[in-house]
Amino acid sequence: CGIVAYVGPKDAAPILLEGLQRLEYRGYDSAGLAVVNGKSLKMRKVKGRVADLAEAVPARFKGACGIGHTRWATHGVPSDVNAHPHLDHEQRIAVVHNGIIENADALRQRLEGEGVTFESETDTEVLCHLIARTVKETDSLDDAVRRALKSVVGTYGIAVIDAQRPGEIVVARNGSPIVLGIGEKEMFAASDVAALVRYTRQVVHLEDGELAVLRADGFHTFTSDARETAKEPFTVDWDTGHYDNGGYEHYLLKEISEQPDTVARTLRGRIDDRFHIAHLGGLNMDARETRSFRRVKIIGCGSAYYSGQIGAQLIEELARIPADAEPASEFRYRNPVVEPDTLYVAISQSGETYDTLAAVQELKRKGGRVLGIVNTVGSAIARECDGGLYLHAGPEVSVASTKAFTSTAVSFALLALHLARVRDLSPADGRRICEGLRKLPEQIEQILKLDEHIKTLAEKYAQAPSMMFVGRVRGYPVAREGAQKLKEISYVHAEAYPASELKHGPLALISHELPTVAIVPDDELLDKNLTTLGEIRARSGRILMIGHRTADAADDCVVVPKNETELDPILLTIPLQLFAYHAAVALGRDVDRPRNLAKSVTVE
Ligand code: G6P
Repeated sequence: CGIVAYVGPKDAAPILLEGLQRLEYRGYDSAGLAVVNGKSLKMRKVKGRVADLAEAVPARFKGACGIGHTRWATHGVPSDVNAHPHLDHEQRIAVVHNGIIENADALRQRLEGEGVTFESETDTEVLCHLIARTVKETDSLDDAVRRALKSVVGTYGIAVIDAQRPGEIVVARNGSPIVLGIGEKEMFAASDVAALVRYTRQVVHLEDGELAVLRADGFHTFTSDARETAKEPFTVDWDTGHYDNGGYEHYLLKEISEQPDTVARTLRGRIDDRFHIAHLGGLNMDARETRSFRRVKIIGCGSAYYSGQIGAQLIEELARIPADAEPASEFRYRNPVVEPDTLYVAISQSGETYDTLAAVQELKRKGGRVLGIVNTVGSAIARECDGGLYLHAGPEVSVASTKAFTSTAVSFALLALHLARVRDLSPADGRRICEGLRKLPEQIEQILKLDEHIKTLAEKYAQAPSMMFVGRVRGYPVAREGAQKLKEISYVHAEAYPASELKHGPLALISHELPTVAIVPDDELLDKNLTTLGEIRARSGRILMIGHRTADAADDCVVVPKNETELDPILLTIPLQLFAYHAAVALGRDVDRPRNLAKSVTVE
């Protein structure tokens, strides 16, 4: 979901609508806004897109202080009533909210007992009535919000306005991001800097448990115990240009095509050709500490997790440290054993995924050493970690991750090189990896030239109701990510399996109707993989092979340039991104905004 708020000399509605448009990738099943006009509230909300909301907002929708929201339903179905903002009965207080209030049912019952009636099924309406009741007992909106939140259990990023206080917005954060934007005699707030960069690049991130009052001439922040906090503004590097689709039909295609650049940016200044090492200043670790780790545990969600699997293999292979990846969403719930000699690495494009953040917090609580591999500078996960690497991939807008995936895998190659060279990796092998890394952008460029060929294949295979993706060892995370991309954006069912496990079960599924995408790099497992292709072929299975050569057993092949064996998985992913993209387009899907998904899941 997305939140935008504005207070200043201008009309708020156009600014809120523009901001909401920029946030639509965060959630897009309903949208709404409210402004203070004189001493009353004006509000519009609709089920549908921000464009539908813009049509519903009349031209004369005056008011210089307002809040807006674009929603991805958690509590209650997408509908006009369930859309935000929510207002109290007197139409005095309006609230927009991201997150989940866990004790909403109990609070609702209590309020109903006090005579409050509810219009919607949302937990946000509960919050609104709670604030509306508290505001009557106190003279100040910020105090009312602060006190109301004391009885709330759950996660939230909220923005609140009060008809009695034109010119004032109160925001609060607990588990769901809120960023303040500082303008010239105007103030903004949003759940994501994407909504702010058109107006200002000076931002302030709220911490969990922090609130802020915004007025045109400034802001102040305080804790839930009413202690004032001091905040240093921070300048965002990204501007609106980074959020444009650059003339491409879809953000996804733009982001796939950007990868030669984004990978080059991830590498920039980090390869040392003299010692064949990686310079990773952000890790905040000296050589002695870097040597001390005996295990590496990687956590992340969705595509971040799959890139972490590639990362674990790189670390094991190059640094010979046992490493594995696990979904952060699982890790946080299983009371993990946290060991002092394990290095933990959290991955997140947005830096705000709640499950990953909660896992990092759990690790920190238990004294774990956590590095972050994050794209969004200053995001919650980046701030929570002890050090790390930024991807420098620029904002990723399309819901399905592509450039952040490759940049994360490249970051892991750098981290693995770093860990390896303070241990036993020889300078010669270090040099081999450095040279391989430098070749990546140019090789990605070559793969992108295969677009037309991959499009033809995607159109052919997209007609299948289901697809199998297989890969062995290095190829397995690639297969998983390929299946994930296809599922996310084309809604074609896809299942990823280790090629070695096929004969232990799923081979029973293979027939002409179930095509297989096989990841077959030219590595020491090539013969084994070719044998698997033969087994599939013998059951009339059709095969699309992604690898470094063609093979008789395959019906179709995409041949990509070869790099160092350890780095090949990074390149093998790219044809699968194009494959999923073209399959989704061929099936008429909403590529950048797949159903039921959001770019950043800031709820549990
Ligand atoms: C969501 C998105 C996925 C993404 C995952 C992790 O589920 O739909 O595409 O991989 O979150 O996001 P993060 O921002 O933490 O990398």
